[in-house]
This record gives sequence, C-alpha cells and structure tokens, in this order.
Amino acid sequence: MASVQIADVRKAYGSTQVIHGVDIDIDDGEFVILVGPSGCGKSTLLRMIAGLENISGGEIRIGPKVVNDVPPKERDIAMVFQNYALYPHMTVADNMAFSMKLRKAPKSEIDERVGKAAQILGLTNLLERYPRQLSGGQRQRVAMGRAIVRDPQVFLFDEPLSNLDAKLRVQMRTEIKELHQRLKTTTVYVTHDQIEAMTMADKIVVMHDGIVEQMGAPLDLYDNPANLFVAAFIGSPSMNLLKGTITAAGFEAENPKGGAPLVWPIGQRPAGSEGKAAVYGIRPEHVRLDPNGIQAEVAVIEPTGSETQVVVRCGGQELTCVFRERITAQPGESIGIAPDTGVTHLFDAATGKRL
Ligand SMILES: Nc1ncnc2c1ncn2[C@@H]1O[C@H](COP(=O)(O)OP(=O)(O)OP(=O)(O)O)[C@@H](O)[C@H]1O
Ligand SMILES: [Mg+2]
Repeated sequence: MASVQIADVRKAYGSTQVIHGVDIDIDDGEFVILVGPSGCGKSTLLRMIAGLENISGGEIRIGPKVVNDVPPKERDIAMVFQNYALYPHMTVADNMAFSMKLRKAPKSEIDERVGKAAQILGLTNLLERYPRQLSGGQRQRVAMGRAIVRDPQVFLFDEPLSNLDAKLRVQMRTEIKELHQRLKTTTVYVTHDQIEAMTMADKIVVMHDGIVEQMGAPLDLYDNPANLFVAAFIGSPSMNLLKGTITAAGFEAENPKGGAPLVWPIGQRPAGSEGKAAVYGIRPEHVRLDPNGIQAEVAVIEPTGSETQVVVRCGGQELTCVFRERITAQPGESIGIAPDTGVTHLFDAATGKRL
C-alpha cells in the first residue's frame, strides 16, 4: 500500500490544456472518488496516475517515489475499467492468473493467490468457466479479482459499475466497499454515480473543466459546498438555487414572472451581507410541509413509495421538494411549505463562493 500525491499536475493534448494544475493528497489506505461532469478530466487524471498518459507538468508520487517517468508496469498499480476487458479465450482462473504468469511467478503462489481472491469475491465455483458463460456482475468480479491477485500498492477504478443494471450496481458497490475495508488498499475511483460517491468514499474530489472545485469527506461537501458548482453537483435531486438579495427580513428571491417577490427565511445572516446580491440554496429534502408556510402550487408529483418528490411553483420559480410523507394534493392545488432554516445555504452571486 502507498500514499499518492498529485502536485500541480497538468495535461495538454497539443495546444489544448485539459488539466490545469491539480493537487490531491491521497493517504495510504484511503478510498478517494473523483466526480465531475463528462469531459472534466477524471479519466485523464486516472490514466496519468497509471502511467498510461504522460504528464505535461507537475509531479505524481506513489509512496515516496516520483513516478512521472516510471512505466506503468513498474508503478505497482492495478486498474479496472468500465468494460472489464477480460480475455475471452481464457477461463476465469487464467484471466485472474494472467499478470502473475507474465511475471513468471511460481505455480503454487499463483494458485494460492487466485484461490484466495476467488474466495473473497465468491468466484470459487466459477474458476473453470469462460467469460461468455458469466453474468455481467460475475465478469465485473473477475476483473476485480485480476486486480486483487496483483496485490498492488494502489487500485485505480474507472467507472467499473456503469455497465451493470441498477440492482447489481448496488450489490457490487457494497462488495467493493467491503473489499476495501478488508484489504485497505489505497484506491482512486471514478464514477458518475452520486450515491456511489457518497457511500463509498473517504474523500470526494469534485472536478470541473480540469480543475478541482472542492475535496473533502462526503458529508462535508454535502453540508458545506464551497461554491455554486459543488452545491449544484453534489446531491440528487439537486439543490434548489434561487437568485435574489439578502435583506433584513431574510432572502428576497427574484420573481422572474414579475409578481411580488417571496422572502425566504435564513438561519444565520453573514455579517454585513445586507443588500448583497446572492443565491439562496435549499436542498429538496430540507423543505417540509407547513400549512402556515409559503403557499406553493403543485406542478408534478412523483411518489417513489418511500418518499414523495414534488415540483412546486411559488414566487415565479420552480422548486423540487422531497417529502417523507405521501401527498394527496393534485397538480394545480396549493400546499404550504417551509425550509429548514438551519440548513439553508447562501452564495455570492458574483463569485459563486459560499457566504
Ligand atoms: N487523446 C486525446 N486527445 C485530445 N483530447 C483528449 C484526449 N483524451 C481526452 N481528451 C479531452 O480531454 C478532456 C478530458 O477527458 P476525460 O476522458 O479525462 O474526461 P472524463 O472526465 O473522464 O469524462 P467522462 O465522464 O465522459 O468519462 C476532454 O475534453 C477530452 O475531449
Ligand atoms: Mg472518463
């Protein structure tokens, strides 16, 4: 196992700069997840750690060693991709043993490591099968088995679960988390999936256009997004964001329809912020039903069984709310809502930074 340090790392393809100086410190044994919109540079960064892309600037260290010029096979990492890329003509056992055979490891050691990895991943009864005889989830497990057998310093995963159906994804998510708790191998994991990021990571790194917007523990990012980008990106459904002005009475939201503006309550007003143009943020799950609250017109109701997602219109804006309760109101009818003032957010309208 090893720490990974990424210091002012840059990447350009020709004259196009795609990574603009990224710094990430990954502790020994830490599980770090990279998230961000398509094209923000997640795979590029992962491939630079792996040594599959060269680095245009900055430094990457694995353990104490700068690896900028170290070829991939000498970096002691194992990478698992989205399309697990198993060898179709080899059995599960041979797929898993492949890297060790290349290294000319003794047969007894290979058998032992493959057997152990198969046991951890529940593949023991499938060792003689070929990839075409496996389900998607089983193939994914073989791909992980191949990585485990190598016993690397660092695991790199690039959206390993995105080809699986929803149920299997949840199951594999738990398995990967358990695997990490057991092996404690330093892991860098790329995903598009919010829930994967929130539930698996020790630390989430939010990337955007080749820079890091914020990194921290999942619940820290969720509770204290540093700027509007992170506020909108982390959490599903997304945080409601209303433009307006901070006043003595609360937050006066713009009414794009031209009617009277609504005033939203705020918990703590930042000192000297009165009169400031700002953005008010409230997560869907932090709006509650309150007959004496703001009257809002129901636009869409989506019951999921465990909760009810409702889009409402008020003050000329649309807001998404998630209630634990079931709602009997129909579209067009009015309900009273109120934000939990302890968990509202304010951002500077000009800079997007948290106030
Ligand atoms: N070989 C290449 N030549 C030129 N540009 C490239 C090359 N590979 C990637 N890029 C560009 O670099 C940027 C980052 O790409 P990257 O694949 O790292 O994004 P990503 O965050 O992994 O996106 P996704 O979520 O879609 O997988 C993109 O704008 C992409 O077009
Ligand atoms: Mg990618």
